[in-house]
Amino acid sequence: MPAESDFWPAVRRNAAGSCVICLMSIVAAGAGEPPGKLAETVELGRVLVEQTATHPLTRQYVGAALNCTSCHLDNGTHPTAASFLDVATAYPAWAGREGRVITLEDRVLNCFMRSCNGIRPPQGSQPVVAIVTYITSLSEGRPIKMNDASPHGPRRVPPLVLDPTTADAAAGEKLYVAKCGDCHATDGNGTADGPPVWGPRSFNRGAGLSHVDQLAAWLKLAMPLDAADLTERESLDIAAYVTSHPRPDFVIEEHLPPAEEMGVYNGKR
Ligand code: HEC
Ligand code: HEC
Repeated sequence: MPAESDFWPAVRRNAAGSCVICLMSIVAAGAGEPPGKLAETVELGRVLVEQTATHPLTRQYVGAALNCTSCHLDNGTHPTAASFLDVATAYPAWAGREGRVITLEDRVLNCFMRSCNGIRPPQGSQPVVAIVTYITSLSEGRPIKMNDASPHGPRRVPPLVLDPTTADAAAGEKLYVAKCGDCHATDGNGTADGPPVWGPRSFNRGAGLSHVDQLAAWLKLAMPLDAADLTERESLDIAAYVTSHPRPDFVIEEHLPPAEEMGVYNGKR
């Protein structure tokens, strides 16, 4: 039987007594693969989730005055308001809308096109890899349970109990003025204290939140910011009022880049 050192040559001490594997990692760092690159990528992803509309790596793909964190509160670490916690455990997942199984990366790209009213960034590009790495880091250590019903993680926003056709937009208007207007403006275009909720700089009609039931379900968990206390009835009425206003249409061809920009090979050649 060979000596253990034949299996583990890297940990043999050299003549000077220093650890060879440590020297090897320093050489690897010099070759452009430093340890800690993964942590740096997680951090870049977090920054992009926070500054999506203004950061130089993502702003060209965002049409709305919104960042991912505008809806995925606290950079997705809010436990219930469209949380990113545990989300990566559910992918790849079946997506009825797309009629196919999608990856977590696809799901991120869909939110760029719809919720951010933007252009689909190239698959494999630096900002997308960073965002997926960040979101995945929020599932570290959690068991995988791919979702065969819909592209949602285990903390998805629960659907409404009330029938959405019972929504009363007139009652919603009064509530909106009283509880939302200070931050989002009574004309819906936003203020320094809150992003637009309708109009040209809002999410488009392809976004989940453009549907009265999905908006109401999210509002109940998320708004007013820092004091989310709406009843389901109030959320539904406000959602009906908010969705009664104009917002950008969604025609998918206008959100896809030319075919040659749909993806990139991002490794060394
Ligand atoms: C206008 C609001 C809005 C914006 C902006 C937005 N999203 Fe979303 N996103 C949603 C909603 C609503 C859902 C569905 C959440 C649910 O049902 O739990 C969702 C779902 C997702 C999911 C799937 C979550 C799951 O449970 O599987 C991912 C991943 C995601 N978004 C990533 C992003 C990223 C990355 C950005 C920024 C590039 C972004 N989103 C911007 C509203 C938004
Ligand atoms: C104290 C200010 C404040 C109040 C009051 C408030 N919001 Fe918000 N709202 C925000 C902020 C800020 C964000 C973005 C979250 C972030 O970036 O952390 C947001 C995000 C949103 C979003 C998702 C992003 C977008 O703009 O489409 C919607 C929809 C929304 N709020 C609707 C409402 C509604 C409806 C009410 C009233 C029930 C309300 N908000 C009350 C500050 C507020």
